[in-house]
Amino acid sequence: KILILDFGSQVTQLIARRVREAHVFCEVHPCDVSSDWVREYAKDGNLKGIILSGSHASVYEVDDRAPDAVFELGIPVLGICYGMQTMAEQLGGKVEAGHTREFGYAEVRAHGHTELLKGIEDFATPEGHGMLKVWMSHGDKVTQLPEGFKVMASTPACPIAGMADESRHFYAVQFHPEVTHTVQGQALLNRFVLDICKASPDWIMGNYIEEAVAKIREQVGDEEVILGLSGGVDSSVAAALIHRAIGDKLTCVFVDHGLLRLNEGDMVMDMFVGKLHAKVIRVDASDLFLGKLAGVSEPEAKRKIIGGLFVDVFKEQAAKLKAGDGGHKGATFLAQGTIYPDVIESGGAKSKKAVTIKSHHNVGGLPEQLGLKLLEPLRELFKDEVRELGVALGLPREMVYRHPFPGPGLGVRILGEVKKEYADLLRRADAIFIEELRNFTDESGKTWYDLTSQAFTVFLPVKSVGVMGDGRTYDYVVALRAVQTSDFMTADWAELPYALLKKVSGRIINEVRGINRVTYDVSSKPPATIEWE
Ligand code: XMP
Repeated sequence: KILILDFGSQVTQLIARRVREAHVFCEVHPCDVSSDWVREYAKDGNLKGIILSGSHASVYEVDDRAPDAVFELGIPVLGICYGMQTMAEQLGGKVEAGHTREFGYAEVRAHGHTELLKGIEDFATPEGHGMLKVWMSHGDKVTQLPEGFKVMASTPACPIAGMADESRHFYAVQFHPEVTHTVQGQALLNRFVLDICKASPDWIMGNYIEEAVAKIREQVGDEEVILGLSGGVDSSVAAALIHRAIGDKLTCVFVDHGLLRLNEGDMVMDMFVGKLHAKVIRVDASDLFLGKLAGVSEPEAKRKIIGGLFVDVFKEQAAKLKAGDGGHKGATFLAQGTIYPDVIESGGAKSKKAVTIKSHHNVGGLPEQLGLKLLEPLRELFKDEVRELGVALGLPREMVYRHPFPGPGLGVRILGEVKKEYADLLRRADAIFIEELRNFTDESGKTWYDLTSQAFTVFLPVKSVGVMGDGRTYDYVVALRAVQTSDFMTADWAELPYALLKKVSGRIINEVRGINRVTYDVSSKPPATIEWE
């Protein structure tokens, strides 16, 4: 196993992720663990290497240092950014506040004579020096090597951008190998964990289940847990995982607001109750939601109503479960499918964003209000890892690789006032669109569902004239929306094949009585958003 000591960088979990990608088991622990703790941790002989992460702070601002034992155990150590600076300082070198700050892309001359960098380069200079394209983010720099170290990498602004003491297997880099902007980052981390630490690459997502199950059991003990199941990827995977760990001590609450996709509620119940035998309380609240939405057409007002009601309904159920009944003593934990990007977002820049473009509803703050403890077993995982975990837990691929679906559901895909009649039409049209996206493939055999990041149908409450058979029709319009994006912050509309659009349009108009016109949305984000409301 590999131990990652976290000095507080925003990207520490990315190091863990890269180590997992090398199929090596790792754990992240805070940097202020004691030397005794580290020795105890290493006692079973399985600890093969230690990585010291970066930090948002400078070695001058904070006094976080690695426990001395890190450098005394005789196992390889890799310092990254702040991790390099603290390593240098603790072993007798010098760090100075930099006058030139380096942020972002940099080209580093890699002195390829070290085991860590041998043969790893992006290009060579005319003089034959190996170069790496990396991502840097630092103000301070190491200005004097500790004894026994040699320079391993350099930039004009940072002559010691990497250092190594190969006799002790201590390595350090000023840049961030864990971020994808560092082109050879994974190669470098693989070299460290596999070749230098000689950790065995036998870790797979399946092992994660065992580790996570053990942790959940330990945390929960014989108490009970409530989880809000939405049918989305994160809450589904969290539910499946927690259910694996504690079985009937988990109760899921599935609030059906009447704004779900065709058959979605039944599919969720089939999966969780039918196949996994989990306890799920399905609350049919569609009348409540549609009732409160009647007459409301302003998008933000609609979102607030849906979000607010959702919390009310969930709270009511949670309070009942908390109180317990004859057979149950009552729940003490609230589980959430929070994943790592959510953790960063809520602590990071996004929460400071000044303008609300769309108020995304989530159930933040609920555990405190309900007086429940929080259980978040996916907190350290990235989206694609959560999906992989879901498949390993036996959830169907279609569920786990589904496009994202907004919390307010069809409520933001029916423009203006939401009515049951509109929702029913939209559900059927959307199901046809999604079905055909799964049927059509490109030259490589990939389906258009997988080739797009998000695709859905929008209901436009306007009527247009058409002709069907011998008669005139005067019916509603829908818009198809399909986008490609990597982060959902910007997006391009997908160039779907005409044959696919033709098939979808033909089927919707013929099969969904009440819709006589289909349009395709060719707006990118920005300036449009992905959803229409
Ligand atoms: P926009 O429309 O802002 O959407 O370009 C970006 C992504 O966010 C999703 N979205 C939501 N997700 N609750 C959610 O959980 C919401 O209220 C919400 N609004 C938008 C949208 O589907 C897209 O993936």
